[in-house]
Amino acid sequence: AGPTREAIDPVRYISNHSTGKMGYSIAYKAVDRGAKVYLISGPTSLKAPEGVQLIPVNSAREMHEKIMEHYDEADIVIMSAAVADYAPAITHQQKVKKSDEKLILELVKNPDILYELGKIKGDKILVGFAMETENLVENAKEKVSKKNLDFIVANDLFTEGAGFGTDTNVVKIIDRRGNVESLPKMAKLDLADLILDRIIKL
Ligand code: PMT
Repeated sequence: AGPTREAIDPVRYISNHSTGKMGYSIAYKAVDRGAKVYLISGPTSLKAPEGVQLIPVNSAREMHEKIMEHYDEADIVIMSAAVADYAPAITHQQKVKKSDEKLILELVKNPDILYELGKIKGDKILVGFAMETENLVENAKEKVSKKNLDFIVANDLFTEGAGFGTDTNVVKIIDRRGNVESLPKMAKLDLADLILDRIIKL
């Protein structure tokens, strides 16, 4: 759940607007149904639901490492985190000082965690999320097949009541056969239940 933070120096980082609400809602509902839940989360201001084992992380690399530590144990992995695709090539040990008019930041690719999990899926259930600003269905379908997912929950940033920070979401669930289920606006907690219902069906 949540965003990742990719450090530039001890003061600054690259991140995104994820608050963790979607992922924490899923963790809350899963533990309520009796699952053993590891909530591997980037920095958020949310309190972990009772009964959930919170594993706080900062960067995408750390998130990858912690997920791999627990992957063998997991029957189901749900990736609602907004993972940074790139990180600064160098993390400066001291605060970068203002100097020239231009400062060029070199970025390097982070691991695609879900893609790596997809390669060693076995009989685990893998559920991804897709946050898009255009071509929602096409892009999400591509992610389902590339990352070897059972299904993906796709949300469009520009749809009212969807995406980052809201208590609601508006999503399409797309499975590996290409079926698209369009859902109305609903509370993230209700969507969490619905996602778990779909997983139980599988
Ligand atoms: O946290 P909230 O404020 O409640 O907002 C919820 C949300 C918008 C963050 C959530 O609903 C959501 O859409 N999460 C995924 C956002 C995203 O980064 O999607 P993506 O299309 O870039 O990535 C596709 C999938 O691959 C995601 O499951 C992502 O976790 C995973 N991924 C992405 C990049 C990467 N390097 N490793 C990954 O595993």
